[in-house]
Amino acid sequence: MPLTALRTFEERIERQLRLLELKKTIIERNIGRHIRLFEQRRDDIGKRIEDQIRQFERKRGIRLDDEVRFIRSWIERPLSIGAVTPSSKMLARAMARYVDPHSDGPVVELGPGTGPVTAALVEAGVDPSRLVLVEFNPAFCRILRTRYPSATLVQGDAYSMRRLLETLLLQPAAAVVSGLPLVTKPMRQRLRLIRDAFDLMLPGAPFVQFTYSVASPLPHRLGGFTVEASERIWMNIPPARVWVYRKN
Ligand SMILES: C[S@@+](CC[C@H](N)C(=O)[O-])C[C@H]1O[C@@H](n2cnc3c(N)ncnc32)[C@H](O)[C@@H]1O
Repeated sequence: MPLTALRTFEERIERQLRLLELKKTIIERNIGRHIRLFEQRRDDIGKRIEDQIRQFERKRGIRLDDEVRFIRSWIERPLSIGAVTPSSKMLARAMARYVDPHSDGPVVELGPGTGPVTAALVEAGVDPSRLVLVEFNPAFCRILRTRYPSATLVQGDAYSMRRLLETLLLQPAAAVVSGLPLVTKPMRQRLRLIRDAFDLMLPGAPFVQFTYSVASPLPHRLGGFTVEASERIWMNIPPARVWVYRKN
């Protein structure tokens, strides 16, 4: 190709690259604007919900601090919180019922949030010093630390439970109770979590999980564990079901 033709060709490519760069900057600016708008709207809605809760509290003379904290966290990270309000007493008690308070070994709770299931476990007779709570939300960890000072609190990712707990647990766990929003995770990650949990638990010990969905969050047909389900618990927003898995 003659030299002038080559130069023209290079100039054309450069012009196209500059145009592409310009378009990229415009798109980035637009995305940034949309994110800021979304965050603004999300914060407004959050504030409005909080105001309504506070008005309700004043009218009824009650405090709903846990609900407010929960909604705030949900607005910030809806997928990792997975629920708009803490579990009801009915659901928390239904979960605690699967844990034998007289069993030996630690009772691990994954995603305790503000602690309704923790409270039900203690109410059912589980000594708080046996509890190992794994929660990654710092605001919830502060609440749990004050409410359950004798429990072991691990601020971290429950999906890394093997790494977090294998040296911490001095005995195999008597139960693992999970409030994690499992269904927001890919199946491979859910299966790895339950496999890791079984490795840290006594043979036949329960892995207790609640879900809002109708189906089991783990497929029965894979085998290797038994599955048991509670009745649907209607006294919860939204209604939920408790699933219990035990290694064969
Ligand atoms: C649906 S809420 C349940 C909270 C509480 N157990 C209840 O029943 O009200 C899920 C909880 O799991 C926590 N969580 C979600 N993903 C987590 C993770 N990877 N590691 C630790 N905690 C997690 C959230 O911060 C939240 O507290």
